[in-house]
Amino acid sequence: MNVDALRAQLLAWYDASARDLPWRVRPQARTDGQRADPYRVWLSEVMLQQTTVPHATPYFLRFTARWPTVGALAAEGDGEVMAAWAGLGYYARARNLLACARAVANEHGGVFPATEEDLRALPGLGPYTAAAVAAIAFDAPTNVVDGNVERVMARLFAVESPLPDAKPELKRLAASLVRHERPGDWAQALMDLGATICRPKAPLCNRCPVAAHCAALATGAPQTYPRKAAKAVRPHRFGVAYVLTWGDAVALVRRPPKGLLGGMLALPTSDWRATRWSDSEATAAAPAAADWRRVGEVEHGFTHFTLTLQLLRAEGDAADVIWSPRHDLEALPSVFLKAARAGLADRL
Ligand code: ADE
Repeated sequence: MNVDALRAQLLAWYDASARDLPWRVRPQARTDGQRADPYRVWLSEVMLQQTTVPHATPYFLRFTARWPTVGALAAEGDGEVMAAWAGLGYYARARNLLACARAVANEHGGVFPATEEDLRALPGLGPYTAAAVAAIAFDAPTNVVDGNVERVMARLFAVESPLPDAKPELKRLAASLVRHERPGDWAQALMDLGATICRPKAPLCNRCPVAAHCAALATGAPQTYPRKAAKAVRPHRFGVAYVLTWGDAVALVRRPPKGLLGGMLALPTSDWRATRWSDSEATAAAPAAADWRRVGEVEHGFTHFTLTLQLLRAEGDAADVIWSPRHDLEALPSVFLKAARAGLADRL
């Protein structure tokens, strides 16, 4: 890799085609002496971790019109800021935003610290944001790596190891291209390249300023990078749920405190295992001797497996169950509500 040539080509491309973004000081303006406002850089980076440039831009414009400085934002009430954040999602991020603004206002005299290390010490300001603000607002030669930059590195170097394991390697590769010259423009050039040319699905390699250096393009299938670990197949499990009725009541049990759905109300079930239950097995595992009839099955997706509950129904009594009116099953976790509704479909 000829790093000097690659850097010169990407920076020249950025000089000519940097996107015009409301928080950005474009290269010509920087040459003319303009500097980015750390508050605006920080705010934009926090918003952009959440969403895309088109979605974040109106929020950025509203926030900066209403709170033009970090001091103004810090002095605002939580409710007002949370309301303005609505639609950007992840409210913890808005709370972190305010905690950080108040620390800058109260402990740093309203002035953002200028190094990655000092930025990182602010509450709610993570490693990515610290690197980005240090580079873009203060021209510190940090290594700014987001998903876009990871993709660009995976392609430039045709990294064969899959994400997410490849992340440290991609970060090292990105670091190998950082120099003291124009760190802020370099970080933003990589971001713009990732967003507009080196796109996830359909990269525009014929317009790429660094195509000559791209090992993935040389393989003929650049869009297949970054490699991704195959998604693990979710295992499938089978259990029997027993819908035992006594007049108007349905038998429930409380699940053991530990484990999946711990402590929740449930229908009585068999164990959950990898194979289906035969009728005789299902009857043998029932909570009471009764005239059990098959009444269908339901499927439910948990995070780590899919469960099929085969449903058996009977009328009768049982020991150690909680009798619940059949019209009052809303406290059941959704898997059991689904099963109870299916099991009682003709009786509800
Ligand atoms: N995505 C995240 N940060 C960005 C920035 N500063 N400019 C453009 N796109 C970005």
